[in-house]
Amino acid sequence: MNGTSQDMTQQQAVPVAPGVRDVAAPMLSVQGLTTHLDLRRGLVRAVDGVDLHVHEGETLGVVGESGSGKSMTILSILRLLPRGAQLGGKVLLDGTDLLQLPENAMSREYRGRKIAMISQDPLTSLNPVFTVGDQVGAPLHYHGRADSREARRRQVVQVLESVRIPSPQTRLDDYPHQFSGGMRQRVVTGMAIASAPRLLVADEPTSALDVTIQVQIMALFRKIQAQTGVGIILITHDLGVAASICHRVAVMYAGRIVETGDVRTLYKRPAHPYTQALLKSIPHFGEKRERLYAIPGSPPSLIDPPHGCRFAARCPHRKPLCDDAYPPEIELESGHKVSCWLASAG
Ligand SMILES: Nc1ncnc2c1ncn2[C@@H]1O[C@H](COP(=O)(O)OP(=O)(O)OP(=O)(O)O)[C@@H](O)[C@H]1O
Ligand SMILES: [Mg+2]
Repeated sequence: MNGTSQDMTQQQAVPVAPGVRDVAAPMLSVQGLTTHLDLRRGLVRAVDGVDLHVHEGETLGVVGESGSGKSMTILSILRLLPRGAQLGGKVLLDGTDLLQLPENAMSREYRGRKIAMISQDPLTSLNPVFTVGDQVGAPLHYHGRADSREARRRQVVQVLESVRIPSPQTRLDDYPHQFSGGMRQRVVTGMAIASAPRLLVADEPTSALDVTIQVQIMALFRKIQAQTGVGIILITHDLGVAASICHRVAVMYAGRIVETGDVRTLYKRPAHPYTQALLKSIPHFGEKRERLYAIPGSPPSLIDPPHGCRFAARCPHRKPLCDDAYPPEIELESGHKVSCWLASAG
């Protein structure tokens, strides 16, 4: 988290679209997802019973400390996991359980097509030895959207225009190193949405960019979402970024979601002490502090996580019950759910 968060937290939160989203079935429903990695040092429970959903046109933010399982969750949705990983639960996209699909259906219809992914570092998604035009055009060709060279160039120009690359007719013959960091991330975003995905998963898409460019990329996401209705899962360390673009937020801690709710409720009335601590660690504009607040202690090992609440060891409100059993998830108000004994045991 950096001093830039304050600029975004102060922007207006994205309004949650009216009631329709509450009643319509979500396009993505993840139920009881577990991802266990069999490593020499033991079985790592990287994702340990995650439920989440995304509606059409909705952006779900996933926040949490490093190592909490955010990336593993979306890599599990895409089934892009290290060898030997054990996946459990359900990942329903428009009713189809992706975890039950044969690998060839996953790679042909879903990865990069119905589900697009944008990673943290746009450079790793772009090959330095091919022109930007060739790279943006390759998936169009692969997905059968443009068969002749001219048609492909025209579509590449359209993609670059849609992500506001200036003079796309000439820029498509440039190489990635001739683009700035923000432009590269826009190119990658353009490539991701060129296949008209149902779902876009973005893993820290702006953390390598400065704040002005972050704001531009987030505005671009919103514009694309308004035009296409794409559902977005946005992983971020930055609660300010989450406030500026997400409709709902899920807070992850040690492989589990500990609190979820619409962004305004969660930021105004955080119920889990971990969410409260995360919010406390955002620097606030105009506030003089000797030091930034940091949550004391560190998360537990995911090889042998504690039996009770996983945050208990760092929690200022710890009581004996917290170490005895994992708290059940309760709904405090519509859509605002928390797993904490403070909330359930009074
Ligand atoms: N390729 C891998 N091999 C072994 N363990 C891994 C691998 N990738 C992640 N892990 C482990 O899985 C757990 C969850 O990691 P994950 O990458 O999902 O965290 P994260 O929340 O995305 O963190 P960050 O914010 O640092 O990106 C961690 O304990 C991590 O050490
Ligand atoms: Mg990650």
